[in-house]
Amino acid sequence: MMQFVFGSQWGDEGKGKIVDFLAAKADYTVRFHGGNNAGHTVIVGGKKYPFHLMPSGILNKKTVGVIGNGVIIDPEVLITEIKQLQAEGMDLTNKLIISPRCHLIMPYHKALDEAYENARGKNKLGTTKRGIGPTFADKVSYNGIRLYELFNFKYFEEKFRFQAGIKNKILTLFKVAPIEIERELIKFKEYRRILAPYVIDTFPILSEAVAKKKHILFEGAHGVMLDVDWGLYPYCTGSNIITGGINTGSGLPINKIDKIWAVVKAYTTRVGEGPVPTEFDDEVAHTIREQGHEYGTTTGRPRRIGWLDLEAVKFACQITSANCLAITKTDILTGIKKIKVCIGYRLEGKKIPYSGCGYVELAKVEPIYKTFNGWTEDIRMIAKFNKLPKNCQIYLRFISSFLKVPVKIVSTGPERERNIIV
Ligand code: GDP
Ligand code: IMO
Ligand code: MG
Repeated sequence: MMQFVFGSQWGDEGKGKIVDFLAAKADYTVRFHGGNNAGHTVIVGGKKYPFHLMPSGILNKKTVGVIGNGVIIDPEVLITEIKQLQAEGMDLTNKLIISPRCHLIMPYHKALDEAYENARGKNKLGTTKRGIGPTFADKVSYNGIRLYELFNFKYFEEKFRFQAGIKNKILTLFKVAPIEIERELIKFKEYRRILAPYVIDTFPILSEAVAKKKHILFEGAHGVMLDVDWGLYPYCTGSNIITGGINTGSGLPINKIDKIWAVVKAYTTRVGEGPVPTEFDDEVAHTIREQGHEYGTTTGRPRRIGWLDLEAVKFACQITSANCLAITKTDILTGIKKIKVCIGYRLEGKKIPYSGCGYVELAKVEPIYKTFNGWTEDIRMIAKFNKLPKNCQIYLRFISSFLKVPVKIVSTGPERERNIIV
């Protein structure tokens, strides 16, 4: 059995929660792209885990966490997460494995990310400043440094001195303090020591797991609208979020994936800049932000709020071949009298699909809305779909019929057990 869970919007759809839930029976939980710009919240036994690099299924006893080659790693962040789990008594030996092909996020990548953002001024992109864009840029321009080098330290040191020397010149142009090369080298030696037990060629392990028909769960980070090719470039992130990213980012075949889960938040949120057609900012948006705790898991920034944009989500489902929906945060819409859903865009009087829009068009499109009556009953303890308030059922059924993808999970709270299985 192979499953893929992805975000169908602009990120923070609740992927972490759904991955943790589905991983109950998984042998492997695999991250294959992105870096610690991701912030995936898992709540188990009243305890909250905001994972950035650790695969979200890892809290399940028999599930092995895999960080595939497509992930870029800030070792400091990963080590913090390792130590947190160890402090709770989790033995990560043979439970966490990391590909040596993963590229490293270096201190100069973070400094460059910030320097570029500051230099862009009013045209800033709103990145997480975790060094994501600069690290991926170095990867494809053959200037990257991988975990592989960390374990061949002579080469690591040589490459690091060369890259840091160049980057320090650029940082000086930006009037930013340069990286302290000697100090960083000492730190990286320590990172190497701590990470050594986990770094291993993940490909044969995963390939064998596929051959033995083990249960593998792929965890998408971010959301399709942030895909480097299919999102709203440059208001995007540096990796491929869509299904194909699994093949490049883990080596595994995508034609063997049985279930492709689109995680759809019942409304839209966005952190960072760039147009969001259904964005609104009134009392209702304020209520959704506060009730839904819509503040970034990684940066703490307040998330922008919009109505559910099914034009965009439909595209996300098409490009990923989604065949299951997990609709999250339906509980947050309780009490809202009129709920709007965008079912298409109009530009200068004509309909235009999401895929036909660049950022210029998307900033100008007029969403075509369908309005639904809300419900007032608390749905958090409901266990069956047909026990949900009628208007809530109508809302969820419409999403499914519009997307032509069946709803299989309705999430009604942040905790692991708050799910209606349809
Ligand atoms: P991710 O990046 O997609 O994993 O999502 P985040 O963890 O960044 O943000 C989702 C937030 O919503 C987290 O605080 C979750 O604990 C929370 N959450 C997930 N599903 C639900 C749900 O169905 N209802 C409520 N109220 N909260 C949820
Ligand atoms: P999860 O996995 C929400 C956004 C940033 C910014 C853009 C580029 O938690 O859903 P980057 O630092 O990646 O170069 O920033 O992408 N972004 C996210 N927004 N959730 C995320 O991850 C995000 N990862 C990146 O806000 O707009
Ligand atoms: Mg998040």
